[in-house]
Amino acid sequence: MKISVIGCGYLGAVHAACMADFGHEVIALDIDAVKVERLGRGIPPFHEPGFEDVLKRALASGRLRFTTDPSAIGEAALHFIAVGTPQRGGSYAADLSQVDTTVAFLLDHARSDGGPVVVVGKSTVPVGTAQSIADRLTEGGLDAVVVWNPEFLREGYAVADTTRPDRVVYGLPEDEERGEIGRAALDEVYRPIIDAGTPRLLVNYPTAELVKVAANSFLATKISFINSMAELCDATGADVTRLAEAIGHDDRIGPKFLQAGIGFGGGCLPKDIRAFMARAGELGVDQSLTFLREVDSINMRRRDHAVELAAQMCGGRLVGLKVAVLGLTFKPDSDDVRDSPALDIAGRLWGRGANVVATDPAGADAVRRVRPDLQIVDTADEALEGADLVMLLTAWRDYVAIDPSHAKSLVAVPRILDGRNALDPKAWSQAGWDYRGMGRTASSW
Ligand code: UGA
Repeated sequence: MKISVIGCGYLGAVHAACMADFGHEVIALDIDAVKVERLGRGIPPFHEPGFEDVLKRALASGRLRFTTDPSAIGEAALHFIAVGTPQRGGSYAADLSQVDTTVAFLLDHARSDGGPVVVVGKSTVPVGTAQSIADRLTEGGLDAVVVWNPEFLREGYAVADTTRPDRVVYGLPEDEERGEIGRAALDEVYRPIIDAGTPRLLVNYPTAELVKVAANSFLATKISFINSMAELCDATGADVTRLAEAIGHDDRIGPKFLQAGIGFGGGCLPKDIRAFMARAGELGVDQSLTFLREVDSINMRRRDHAVELAAQMCGGRLVGLKVAVLGLTFKPDSDDVRDSPALDIAGRLWGRGANVVATDPAGADAVRRVRPDLQIVDTADEALEGADLVMLLTAWRDYVAIDPSHAKSLVAVPRILDGRNALDPKAWSQAGWDYRGMGRTASSW
């Protein structure tokens, strides 16, 4: 099928390449000329394991093209909306300006003379957006069947989550005949996914839109829940990692997303729960989501706590001390530093007068753009050299694998704060380190 993908961020670029790999003819559109030029040469503009291979393969097949020219989408029978919906400045609500631009592109360039085009929304949007897009396209004279098809991909696993999702959700229009056109078209695009027996849920627009924000809210709540337990563990001498392990054996709870530490960040969870609260307010049901305020504040409290703990470990003051920060991205296997707890904490330490020397395997360039004042070095060894305190803030495999004895030979004082509870406290303590985790005390391991 001839399809277009509008927006080439983490979601759109990966989606475009994977759809071409499925055998479709894909035109991918973005307004960022540098990004488009790089993608067209097979160079991923972000760090995403496995993406470069799919991208190169798709380009070599001749089925994938990147462009900044919106008129190029005219040939496509199906259009994916994959643009960003960031947090609006000065507000909790989502900024839908890129969605609005996409609607304008579609009205100007999509063609429905041979029958309706199908417009598939993948961006995370406030509930009500799908219907509003459908209305605007109709009013603008385009015969379009809008399907809302939320995306659940995780950075770091984007290719696998796109090609082998654990479920697909189609939000279909109320009109059954038009709904059937949308379903059939999307089934054709996703043929390998459907043939693999992936659960596919057919729902209405608001359900599809809510599924996405509900899933992210649940994940954020799970993380803040375990982080609130970490606070209790700190106050009582219990160990949050053992607590998580114990409750996780109950398969109604499950072990995933119970990793306590410095909390969640990234381009999705924080802004999605805020936009969800803002939308609930507009709908007059803000009370239903009051708990998400607490989820957000528990999460932000983790950052304060990490900085306080760092100061405490150093006798109350950080001024002039060298702090080695390992990891700056919001999670491992990504170069994304949007709302990264690690970067925020590094900045706060710097604000408290610490001499911060940070390192990250993939995020250094992004950090240099947003925090040019932070000192960044290439390797963990360079960061550790002469440090008074080490902080592990993103659990990259290479950092988790650091040998504590080797690290001890480099630092000035063997003190480590494990912001992700990713290290073996016994091994580090036995190697002579003053080890502190988040929600675990020496008596608990
Ligand atoms: C999240 C969701 O997991 C995806 O399903 C969703 O599609 C995506 O947002 C999106 O809306 O596009 P992602 O932002 O890639 O994916 O990151 P996660 O893996 O969810 O991690 C989010 C944050 O939570 C990270 O900072 C991570 O370090 C933190 N986290 C995660 C914890 O602190 N503890 C945990 O146990 C798990």
